[in-house]
Amino acid sequence: MRVYILTLFPEMFSSVLGTSILNRAREQGFVTVNLVDIRRFAHDAHKTVDDYPYGGGPGMVMKPEPVYEAVEWVKQKVEREPFVVLLSPQGQKFDASLAKQISVKQDVVLVAGHYEGFDERIRCLAHLEVSIGDYVLTGGELAAMVVLDASARFIPGVLGDQESASQDSFSHGLLEGPQYTRPYEYGGLKVPEILLSGHHEAILTWRRKESIRRTLKRRPELLIRACLTYEDRCFLEEIIDEEQSRKTV
Ligand code: 6GU
Repeated sequence: MRVYILTLFPEMFSSVLGTSILNRAREQGFVTVNLVDIRRFAHDAHKTVDDYPYGGGPGMVMKPEPVYEAVEWVKQKVEREPFVVLLSPQGQKFDASLAKQISVKQDVVLVAGHYEGFDERIRCLAHLEVSIGDYVLTGGELAAMVVLDASARFIPGVLGDQESASQDSFSHGLLEGPQYTRPYEYGGLKVPEILLSGHHEAILTWRRKESIRRTLKRRPELLIRACLTYEDRCFLEEIIDEEQSRKTV
């Protein structure tokens, strides 16, 4: 995946790109990231990229020409039509499925807007408009980092076997159950005995059930779409009974 990030603040990206899995993915050639400063495409000596809104109102609006020309510049550099993603709080809600869709594209342009908004005509450029949640960020840069990180994790080879296994569990639509490491007892709380039993099958069964329990408690709406086996549904009934009797005690 070759990613072109169009932004007014390229310096915001250095720590995220230079750390951990994204850094490794870039070093190993799975992901290349090109930061494109939209200001380079401003037309005047003052490098103006925003202007007052027609009709009045608060704040500034991002001008269309610099963004169009930045996208055109990217198009001339790549062989095939790049997939253009506009980051905006009005976009489609980002999730693992969108991350997967983006991860299979060869060339991706992430356009990070700033100011109170961007000129409506910028929307025509995008194949997809994405929001990372129902709140407003100061700019699209943080959202672009989220989209890049989550998408890169779906590229085969970016994660080690261990790391991808845990990613899979979220794609299957359930939250992970509780995890423990040493010490055995901390703050009066002990590690569940089953995890010390060495009984691999029983541990897997326990983990699956606890994963269903956690999903039921925290994100019950996910269970509707999750792929549950017959055994899972039995766990679910047990959990509902267990939680019910816990409440009545
Ligand atoms: Cl993609 N951009 C901005 N500015 N705010 C957001 C967002 C994006 N997603 C949620 N809030």
